[in-house]
Parts: sequence; C-alpha cells; structure tokens
Amino acid sequence: MYWDPEVETLTPEKLRDLQLQRLQATVARASQSPFYRERLREAGLQPQDIRSLEDVRRLPYTTKDDLRARGPDFLTVPTERLVRLHASSGTTGQATVIYYTRADIEAWAELVARSMYMTGVRPGDVFQNMMGYGLFTGGLGFHYGGERLGCLTIPAGAGNSRRQVQLMQQFRTTVLHIIPSYALYLLNVFAEMGVDPRDLPLRIAFIGAEPHTEDMRRRIEAAYGLKAYNSYGLSEMNGPGVAFECPEQNGMHVWEDAFLLEVVDPNTLEPLPPGVVGELVFTNLTREGMPLIRYRTRDLASYEDTPCPCGRAMRRISRIQGRTDDMIIIKGVNIFPMQIEKVLMALPEVHTNYLVELSRRDYNDIMTVKVEVKESFFKEDLKYLTGLKKRLTEALKSELLVTPVVELVEPNTLPVSEGKALRIVDRRQET
Ligand code: COA
Ligand code: AMP
Ligand code: ZN
Repeated sequence: MYWDPEVETLTPEKLRDLQLQRLQATVARASQSPFYRERLREAGLQPQDIRSLEDVRRLPYTTKDDLRARGPDFLTVPTERLVRLHASSGTTGQATVIYYTRADIEAWAELVARSMYMTGVRPGDVFQNMMGYGLFTGGLGFHYGGERLGCLTIPAGAGNSRRQVQLMQQFRTTVLHIIPSYALYLLNVFAEMGVDPRDLPLRIAFIGAEPHTEDMRRRIEAAYGLKAYNSYGLSEMNGPGVAFECPEQNGMHVWEDAFLLEVVDPNTLEPLPPGVVGELVFTNLTREGMPLIRYRTRDLASYEDTPCPCGRAMRRISRIQGRTDDMIIIKGVNIFPMQIEKVLMALPEVHTNYLVELSRRDYNDIMTVKVEVKESFFKEDLKYLTGLKKRLTEALKSELLVTPVVELVEPNTLPVSEGKALRIVDRRQET
C-alpha cells in the first residue's frame, strides 16, 4: 500500500521533526547561493536562527520574478554537478529555469513513483505518458517516475491523437497521464475510430497541469472506465509530484517530507487556517542544486489537516481554485499576457489594441488573438494581409508554444483596455 512506508506512515509529530531538521539543512545549503546569501544578510538572519518550523516565517519569500531576474544565482553547486534543466513560461528571456543535480532527479523520480504507487499503480502496468516531453516537466518527470516504479513506460508525448489510441490498443495500456481537457477531447477521436475506451484495459489516469472540476473528473472516469487522480506540481518545485490524490480522492496529499507548505493570505501574507483559500507557498526540503525558500506559487487553494483514512499524515490541499496573477493555462501550457504583448508590440504593423479570447470547442482550447493593424498596412492587398497573419501566428506560436487563431482588424475597433487583464476574455467555462 505504501511505496515508502517509513515516510508515509510518520505521525504528524515525527513528520514535523523531520521537516525542521530538513528546513535547517536547506537554509544552510541555500545560504551558499549568491541569491539567498544576499537575502539572508538583508534580513539579518543566519541559518542557525531557524529553531522551530514557525521560524520559516522569518525567512524572505521568493517569487517568479526573482527566478527570472537571477536564475543562476540560486545555484548551490558548480555546473559540473548539474545534469538537467527544465524551463517554463516564455521562450525568450522570460523563462524560469530550474536546474537539477543527479540526486535531485532521483529524489524527484522517487516522489513521482510514490505518488503513482499510492493510487494502485504496480510493476507490470503499462504506462502511457501523454504530456509534452522536452522543457515541460510533465513529460520527463512522470517518465522517470513510471520507470522507477517499474512500469512499462511509453513516452507517447502530446498530440498525434489517433496514434495515442493505437498505442493504447497495441500495448494494452493500463495507466495514463493526460491533461483533463485533452482526455475529454480525445473521446471524439475514439468515436471516429470506432473504439470504446471502456473496452481497453485502462484502469488509472493521472490528470493535472490545468484546473478542472469534479464534474470533469467524473466524466473522464465514466467515459474511460477508470479512476482519475488529480496531480499537482510546478516546475519551481521539480514539476509533478508535489501533491497527489490517494484512493480516497478527498484532496491532494502534499509530500511534506520534501516540501514545507504554507497557505497565506495573498494580500497580508498572514498564515491561514485549514479550509480557507489562500496562496500556496512552498519551501524545498530535500533539493540539492537549487533549493527555493518560501516560493510564492500564485496558486490558490485551501488545506485540510484532518486524518485521512489512507493513514498518511501529510496534509491535503483542495483543487487549485485560481491564480493571484494573470497567468492562463491553454492545452496545459502556461501563458502570461505579457508574452503576447511583447510579440505583438515588436511588429511595426500592429496598432495599439489587441484582444485575446479563449474558448473551448469539443474540449479543445482555442486562443483567438484579435489584432488591430495600422491604417497604412490595412490598405495593402489581401496577399500581404494573409502573409502578415501567418507571420503573426508563427511569432506567437514560437513564443507561446501553442498555435493561436489570429484575426486582423481595423485600427480603433477593439475596446481600449484600461488594464492588462481586460485584454483577455476567458469563455472556456461557458462551453
Ligand atoms: N495534450 C496533448 N495533446 C494535445 C493537447 C493537450 N493538452 N491539446 C491538443 N492536443 C493535440 C491536438 O489534438 C492535436 O492532435 P493531432 O495531432 O491528432 O491533430 C495536436 O495536439 C496538435 O494540436 P494543435 O491544437 O494543433 O497544437 P498547438 O500548436 O496549439 O499545441 C501542443 C501543441 C498540444 C503539442 C502543446 O500545446 C503541448 O505540448 N501541450 C501539452 C503541454 C504539457 O504537456 N503540459 C504539461 C506541463 S507539466
Ligand atoms: P509548470 O510550472 O509549467 O509545471 O506549471 C505549474 C502550474 O500549473 C501550477 O502553478 C498550476 O497553476 C498549474 N497546475 C499544475 N497542476 C495542476 C492541477 N492539478 N490543477 C490545477 N492547476 C495545476
Ligand atoms: Zn489519503
């Protein structure tokens, strides 16, 4: 039942002891990085000042902007000790990069294997990983976890929908890792191919990387004839394997031996009690190359500390309820409006306004970018405008990693936005 019985059956008190010991070690380790050396000096703190878990509140927060601005300054080891990097959100300049040592990769694989095992995955299972490989953490993160557990792991990657179905048929896939909206979209492809997913030996799916509802989960479970478990993670904390549902499906256990969880009011930064939604803040407890202290995730959720029938003392978080910033997730890819703005404003043909509309057709996310084109360019011929549209689409795809539908409109026809957020209209809940 437990992958790591020693850790998974710790009493709450023993778990706190372990956390304190690891927090102290993490702060000592982090203080060797240029970034935290500076931050701790500014806060007048020494690693030995951390004497209780509550002392974590004396430590400074870390934000995505810090990572963007100071990436390599977070490292506590020389380059020779690093074996991998992953990056998220933004391909040019703005990406946040996380570096891993060999020990970090192993610890991460161990956490993902533990998460998968908790739901009932066992050696002998055939695991089809349908997340993007490459810089996304969902692909390689789960891949290593699946192999670690002993699954026959199929690195299917994202896209190629008919091929995905064929792989499931040919190799008798039993376990899936899939983005929830894509799982529902793929049902159309199953129907076109005359295949009923319930006739396949599928029994477990891990769904995550984007917000989804209980209703969506139940629909996936019914249509595929399997149990679907919510999986939460973020690149800054390795990737997937931060918080995971157990068979009770009553919230996601945070692996608190590896991550110190705080839930804070995003405005006052005061700690919140169980059941109240706030911002999730994590501190790495076991990372070697790039430990992060009090990382503000911008994800909103609440936590529960009531006992779970599965016997694990690790606290559970609710579904992610939203974000405190303007990041949007399309097809499992994180996008900041700033990225869209940067691409558009670099083009001389683009006038001042643009509008991004998000919709969902057959569970497929569609991003429509309406762009005002300057009068002088609008007078050009149709061939020119078609070429411009193509260039814009390619420039956006290259920055965002998803393909938008670009619509060119005449100048001053879009609403003038008074704030950045107004440039994005999300209609995905209405469909
Ligand atoms: N996951 C997997 N495949 C997806 C998908 C998703 N969330 N959304 C769409 N697709 C499929 C499409 O159905 C299409 O399949 P087809 O080849 O059978 O036609 C294919 O991917 C390309 O879709 P399209 O909408 O034309 O592509 P795009 O250029 O807008 O996006 C993706 C390309 C889907 C590959 C890209 O969005 C992606 O890699 N998404 C997954 C991200 C991920 O793994 N996140 C995890 C983060 S940890
Ligand atoms: P990335 O850094 O690319 O791995 O993306 C991490 C972000 O994806 C998180 O901060 C969340 O906003 C979102 N995310 C990941 N898993 C989930 C999940 N299970 N439910 C909702 N959002 C999620
Ligand atoms: Zn449980």
